[in-house]
Amino acid sequence: MYLRFNRPSLSGKEFEFMRQAVVDGKLSGDGQFTKKCHALLEKELGVSKALLTTSCTHALEMAAILLEIKQEDEVIIPSFTFVSVANAFALRGARPVFADIRADTLNLDETKLEKLITPRTKAIVAVHYAGVGCEMDTILEIAGRHGIPVVEDNAHGLFGKYKERYLGKMGCFASLSFHETKNFTCGEGGALLINDPRYMERAEIIREKGTQRSRFFRGEVDKYTWMDIGSSYLPSEILAAFLNAQLEARESIQSTRKRIWEYYFEHLKDWARDRGVQLPEVPAHCEQPYHMFYLLAPSLARRQALIAHLNTREINGVFHYLPLHLSSMGRQFGGKEGDCPVTEDVSDRLLRLPFYNELTEVDQARVVAALEDFKWSP
Ligand SMILES: Cc1ncc(COP(=O)(O)O)c(C=O)c1O
Repeated sequence: MYLRFNRPSLSGKEFEFMRQAVVDGKLSGDGQFTKKCHALLEKELGVSKALLTTSCTHALEMAAILLEIKQEDEVIIPSFTFVSVANAFALRGARPVFADIRADTLNLDETKLEKLITPRTKAIVAVHYAGVGCEMDTILEIAGRHGIPVVEDNAHGLFGKYKERYLGKMGCFASLSFHETKNFTCGEGGALLINDPRYMERAEIIREKGTQRSRFFRGEVDKYTWMDIGSSYLPSEILAAFLNAQLEARESIQSTRKRIWEYYFEHLKDWARDRGVQLPEVPAHCEQPYHMFYLLAPSLARRQALIAHLNTREINGVFHYLPLHLSSMGRQFGGKEGDCPVTEDVSDRLLRLPFYNELTEVDQARVVAALEDFKWSP
């Protein structure tokens, strides 16, 4: 059987909750299941407000609007990340400024951050790669000294922690993804987390087409009208019901993923050490949420050969982000070879192994055996 890189899994109550939404006759957004998801995220993470969105991309777009990002502004983002991080700000006319990453955690390199700051810098996006926390103390200290808001892109890291603090709780905003590849999913979905209460009211308006419809539905105003720019960023109750089932099952989902991650790590660490392959590094002060398992091959050629070899064993190993600064859009913003050397190197060498909740030990043993069989001839 072909081992896919990802398969979405059910946690048990998804259909029951979706059925309930249908029976209740409330399929548009912000019904009981959306409210339950909001309450669960706010209580667990301790954030001031959680708002479900139709994607992490849209949560980032909302953050860009809330921060009033405009033409000529600069936003510092890691080059090694998903295109939405750049797009959310470019859509508002801003210029992404590409930062390089650390060679250990593959997170934004905080030691190279300050020299990228200019009077035009209006935001810094800290992306917690694989849900392992960025060095937030340093990033927040630098940003704070310059009066620049930090957005945490926590697409990968719901329930991960940095120095005992939940990821998503430290920046002015954070974004979450519930895309089908994530630990918790509703197919396509996301959330905006707000830690600065000053943004709460406007966020609701932007999410509801630029109107105060949320307040109207709560009975706080007797009509709603066009107040601001905005869009339709709220997901339907069907999706919220699906997601609510997954969030309620968080303990069992996370313990399953921990087991899968640890199996790979235990069974591959000697093999990796002997072959110059780097496995994920999780600093002692970070609690990771076991989102993905990747390895860094010694070279691009080896990585490509490993992908091809896994394929012959019907195993789908995949690479990840291409450097944003070298994309055709990135080059239009001035990106060129050598700007972010760690990103360029890591992007060539990174390989992700199949990782999903229903992956069995038999499946994982197959992946490990296939890697062990790989011929490292020159
Ligand atoms: C770091 C990061 N941010 C944002 C996104 C976009 O997420 P979504 O597909 O929910 O819009 C992704 C996608 O995987 C991602 O990896």
